[in-house]
Amino acid sequence: MALRLGDVAPNFKAQTTAGEIDFYEYLGDSWGILFSHPADFTPVCTTELGKTALLKDEFAKRNVKVLAVSVDPLDRHKGWVNDINETQNVEVNFPLIADSDRTVSSLYDMIHPNASETFTVRSLFVIGPDKKVKLMITYPASTGRNFNEVLRVVESLQLTANYSVSTPADWNHGEDVIVATAVSTEDAVKKFPKGVKVIKPYLRYTPQPNL
Ligand code: BEZ
Repeated sequence: MALRLGDVAPNFKAQTTAGEIDFYEYLGDSWGILFSHPADFTPVCTTELGKTALLKDEFAKRNVKVLAVSVDPLDRHKGWVNDINETQNVEVNFPLIADSDRTVSSLYDMIHPNASETFTVRSLFVIGPDKKVKLMITYPASTGRNFNEVLRVVESLQLTANYSVSTPADWNHGEDVIVATAVSTEDAVKKFPKGVKVIKPYLRYTPQPNL
């Protein structure tokens, strides 16, 4: 059965470019991103893995561990990582799962047979420290994902996890956030000392609380 938001992310053991990994052990108490790529030695995938490596410090700042999946075998992964490092001017610094037997792809429903019988689509899961699925996005093979958007969403998820707030349309780091409807305006004023702007009883803004 396909995973849904709020489900427990299934654990697995897998061969990776960093040796055998137990997913839960790899994540520890961190947030996690598990994302699939259709195939090694392909252009869009090469740029995606390069971009992810470039954003290493941004992921680390947000306490996020990254793990990539592709159904190609380990020896191909190792050769491809050399190409990514060379062409994207990076050092790939996260493991790449060799999912030749499709264990991880099946657990996470990453193969969409009407798109391709054999390759994974571009699935991406954000997993919280409680091991629950917080975000799922699915892109076709031909469209590279926006990893700045992935970071933005992680920041929004972490704000929601730590404060009683949501983030509005097109929100970016540093902008006002929305007070959760479950919080009364009276309580919001106490909870958010930077101020609460009431537009409607259900639409109240406060400055980003963790800055
Ligand atoms: C790519 O990464 O460029 C790609 C992979 C599979 C199908 C189409 C594009």
